[in-house]
Order: sequence, then C-alpha cells, then structure tokens
Amino acid sequence: MSKVYIVMGVSGVGKTTIGQGFARQLGVPFYDADDFHPEVNKAKMAAGNPLQDEDRWPWLDILAAHIKDWKKDGAVLACSALKESYRDRLQQHTTVVYIYLKASFALIFKRIQARKNHFFNPDLLDSQFDTLEVPKNAITVSVKDPPDTIINSLLHTIEHKATLGLIGLGVMGKSLARNFAGKGIKLSLYNRHVAHHEVDIAASFVKEHDVLQQSIGFDDMARFMASLALPRKIFLMVNAGPATDAVIQEMLPHLSEGDIIMDGGNSHYKATQGRFDMLVLRGIHFLGVGVSGGEKGALEGPSIMPGGSRKAYKVVGDYLEAIAARDKAGNACCTLVGEGGSGHFTKMMHNGIEYAEMQLIAEVYDVLKTNLGLKNEAIASHFTTWNTGALESYLLEISGKIMRHKEGDTYLIDVILDKAKQKGTGGWSTTAALEIGASLDTISQSVMARIVSGYKKERIVGEKLYSLSRNGASENHEQRENEAVKCNKPLSIETIKKAYNTARIINHCIGIEALRKASSEYNWELNLAEITRIWTNGCIIRSAFMEGLAPILQNSEESLFLDKRLSREIKEGLDALLFFTTTATQSYIAVPVFSAALQYILSYTRADSSANMIQAQRDYFGAHTYERKDKPGNFHTMWEE
Ligand code: 6PG
Repeated sequence: MSKVYIVMGVSGVGKTTIGQGFARQLGVPFYDADDFHPEVNKAKMAAGNPLQDEDRWPWLDILAAHIKDWKKDGAVLACSALKESYRDRLQQHTTVVYIYLKASFALIFKRIQARKNHFFNPDLLDSQFDTLEVPKNAITVSVKDPPDTIINSLLHTIEHKATLGLIGLGVMGKSLARNFAGKGIKLSLYNRHVAHHEVDIAASFVKEHDVLQQSIGFDDMARFMASLALPRKIFLMVNAGPATDAVIQEMLPHLSEGDIIMDGGNSHYKATQGRFDMLVLRGIHFLGVGVSGGEKGALEGPSIMPGGSRKAYKVVGDYLEAIAARDKAGNACCTLVGEGGSGHFTKMMHNGIEYAEMQLIAEVYDVLKTNLGLKNEAIASHFTTWNTGALESYLLEISGKIMRHKEGDTYLIDVILDKAKQKGTGGWSTTAALEIGASLDTISQSVMARIVSGYKKERIVGEKLYSLSRNGASENHEQRENEAVKCNKPLSIETIKKAYNTARIINHCIGIEALRKASSEYNWELNLAEITRIWTNGCIIRSAFMEGLAPILQNSEESLFLDKRLSREIKEGLDALLFFTTTATQSYIAVPVFSAALQYILSYTRADSSANMIQAQRDYFGAHTYERKDKPGNFHTMWEE
C-alpha cells in the first residue's frame, strides 16, 4: 500500500516547491490542490474574496475522491488544508500523511508580496493565519531552511519512521506482525525485557523473518514510541486484563494527542469502554479490536471486529482491512462495528457462539462413540462427509482432522485429558446476556459443560457411585429395569446430522439475537448483517450457514427465529433434535447444549407459557403483583384470606 502525502500550510509557504521536490525524490506524481478548484472558487479568489466553507466542501470532496485513487501508487499533494475539518474531509475515504510547513506571518507576507501572476491576493493572508488550526499529527518542518534541506529532512523522517507499532510478540502478535509486514506496512515491534525469560524477543524475531526486513525490534518503550510516524498507530497484542492496563500506562508519557491505540486482545468490553473513556480525555483514540482466527488466521487473514473511535478508524481502517481475511465477494472481513466497547462485545459473543458450536460437536462425538459404538475413523469420516455440504464449517473440518490424528498407533484424541479449559469469554458473554436480559441458553450451557468437565476427580467417583450404564450400542435396552428409560429405536446418522444442523441454527440465532439486544441497550447501532458478513471468513465460527445469515439480516430487523426460512428449517429438524436429545439422555449421555437448544425452541414457540404460575407464586409470598390476561394493570391478591 502506498502513501499520499499532503504538504499543507498557509499560502506562500512553499507547498508547491517543496511538494514537487519531495514527489520527485519519492518517484511519485505531484498534484496542486488549486488545480482542482471549481471555476467559481478560482474566480472568487482572483477577485480577492475569501472562500467560505460551503465553497470549499465540493473542492475537498473532489480531492478526497482523487486521493483514494492516488493511494494505489502514492502521490504528493500541495493543499492549504488549514482547518481540522478540511483535513478530515480530505481523508474521508482513506488515510493520508500530513506534512505541515510552519512559518511566521512576517516571512510569508514578504514572500507573497514578491509574487507575480498568482491568483491569490496577499491581503487574504490575514484570514489564512486566522483560519489556520495547527495540525497535531503532521510531520512538522520549519520553512526557514532552503527547500533542499527541508526535502532531505522529510525523506529522513519518513524513511526512518514506522507506519505502525505492535506491542506483544506472543504467538498471535508474531503472526499479526508478519501479516502486516507482508502487506508492505513498515513496523516497529516491541516486546518487554524480562531478565532470563524475555530477552531480545523483538530484535530476534525481526532477524528470523525476511518479511520483517523493513521492521525494527525494540525492548525500550521510549525508543519504540519515538520510532513511530505521527499520529502513532499502535496495535496491542498483550494479555487481556491488568497486562493491557500496565502497557497503556507505560505508553502514556510517550503519547501525543491524536495517537491511536488498538487493543487486539480478548479484553472485556467494559474494560475497553473504561480505557476508551480514560484515553479520550487525553486526546488519544482507542479502538477495542476483536481478532478471530487463531495463529493461522492472524498470519493469513483473520476476521477483525474493531469498535471505538470512528475518527481513528478512518486512519487505521486501511491497515486493518489490508490484513483481514476476504469474504466470497472479495471484501475485507473487517468493519467498524460501533462505538466504545462494541468491538470487544462482538468478539465476546463470537466466542460464545464458538463455545456452543464446539460443545455441539463434542456431544455428537460422544453419542457416535458411546451410543452408536463408532470407532474414531468412522466418526472422522462422518464429520468429513458432513463438512462438504450445508453443514460445512471450520470447526467441523478441524474436528474430522482431530479424530484421525495419531501418535504412533494411538489416536491422540483418546489420550487428551477430558477437562476443558477456558479463558473467560464464554462466561463473560453469559454474564453480559444476563445483564441485558437476553436468553443465552446454548452458550451458557456450553460454559457450564466446560465447568463440569473440570470436576474430573468427582466424576470418577460419581461414575462408580451411580454406575449408570451408557453402553448404548451393545446393551440390550429391553433388559433395563427401568421401563421408562427404554430406548427401542436406534439413532441413525441422518437423524444425528439433522439434529446437529437444527441445534446449530438455534445456537447462531441465540447469539445474534443477544447482539441485537446489546445494540439497542447500549445504542451501538450494530449492523448485524455486516457482523455476520465479517464472520464468513478468517474466524473460528466461519461456516456455510454463516454465509446465509447476512442476506437475511440485511432484509429484516425481525428476530432470526421468526424468519421464514430459518423457522421452516428449525421446524423440519425439530423431531430429529428431540429424538437425538431424548435418545442420548436415555442412554445417560449428557447433551447439555442440544438439550438447551431444544428447550429454548420449545419455550420460544409457545404462546401460553407456565409463567403465570411463577407470577402467582411471587405475588403469594412477596406481594410482587402480577398482570392479567383479561384486564390491564398490576394486581395483588390476598391469597390466604
Ligand atoms: C478466536 C478464538 C480465540 C481463542 C479463544 C479461546 O476467535 O480466534 O476465540 O480468541 O482461541 O479465546 O478461548 P478459550 O480459551 O476460552 O476456549
């Protein structure tokens, strides 16, 4: 990606001379913004009438459109760009680098008076200096020196300053750094120094990869910060929580107004909102950037969910979109999700859906193994076959590969300890849903399933104590003592596949409806169609099903559960889901997420529920009052009179 430099300052400062010389040195075309003025503006200026803002907007829009094209090969533009609002307008489509030529009124006045044949009236200089809002994030040079000296100093500055800084060279940080560098983005990389443990991490990493030839590694914060072009654009890839706060505190003394921090970790959205609020007071922009795709995704193209400052996104959006995965239409799987903590909220809900999707596959694996008695290879081939059609998903694909993976003669899956760990995002999404009154059945059950898996020691004792026979395939069910749990009909692969498909639809709808609720609670105006679009590639929950969601969400604001196509599919798969869940349960196999999906849909599709009993009980013991079906108002009954 190339850069467009805008050489700015008041008229007469030497923008054209310096701009042309600079462009020549860079080998890129030079443009003069005055050449793009509509004729009416030129006439007005020649007549000595200062331009008003309404005269300038069409001119700036013309320039902004050209800048977008020039970005491909790079360019230098000379343009006064005196106000912040003009500069924002110029980079409405893509970011630019401003070079501010600084000069005193007296010097410029002398220069302008000496000029001939220029349509600018020197009397207008006063108004130029009045209008000038000194840019905070420009490369600033004084024009006292001769042009050649200024151009050389500019070249020195841009050659040595990095476009982007990245802090934290763990697995994800390293992959993202290689991805950014592969897109031609010059990086400064920082990793802390911890004696005997983390020594020269950044410098050694740079040496290991050719793609990082242009990049420099640091373990000194001050030097790292000084190496970055203004406004500083810094991507954090450190552990979520206190480590993120500590790094931000360490950076603070070195930051300037207008700098941009992007937190790419799995931070809690409330912490992100807090950091956003704290930094905005110092004029620092903050983006909470959800990144999904694991190590490989980070290297080859993740799905990126930034949230926070819109102004900052305009500056860094191009870089984030450059490294993101592409959807089927070739668009970047990266979009500004919304304000404040919305990017990390979206990533958190992505992970919630991810937890439940993973658990659904684990439950299918359990039923295929325990109830149907299938061997690993057979399970693997079912997963692989399913993955060729509507059920295609990244998680199913890797699960098939996992089932086949061997260490010598041993299937690795058979020796992996059955205790699922978690870093917290699934649990956070459950808490967040409770706070906003969104039902998160499948996702919360998947979190609980991981928690119960952690009770390994108790489960070992429990199995002996309860001695429930789960050998579905080999057991003669007719022999069971308890007739109520008799299971006569075997579960077919087709039924399992259909049940899995149905539970997946319900799980996605639950997660996305929670996002919809959060959007209205927090006024984020989330574009759910865009969010599902950026989840079609690069992220862990990418799937064929996800690809069908964006068009539905684009055309309707109704709950996904009420969508014609999805409701028909859920209805068609409901008996399979019911049969799968009951058969597994009758074989004493826990299928908590399948059950949660089933129970959710049974509740959701019932106009008259049993909650009248709850209301009556609440009113009975606590005088909490209730509403009635037959008349409006709140009522309380003296139940015991
Ligand atoms: C992703 C993943 C990623 C990480 C999870 C794992 O989207 O790339 O979600 O963020 O692998 O956070 O989370 P647990 O350790 O909680 O399973």
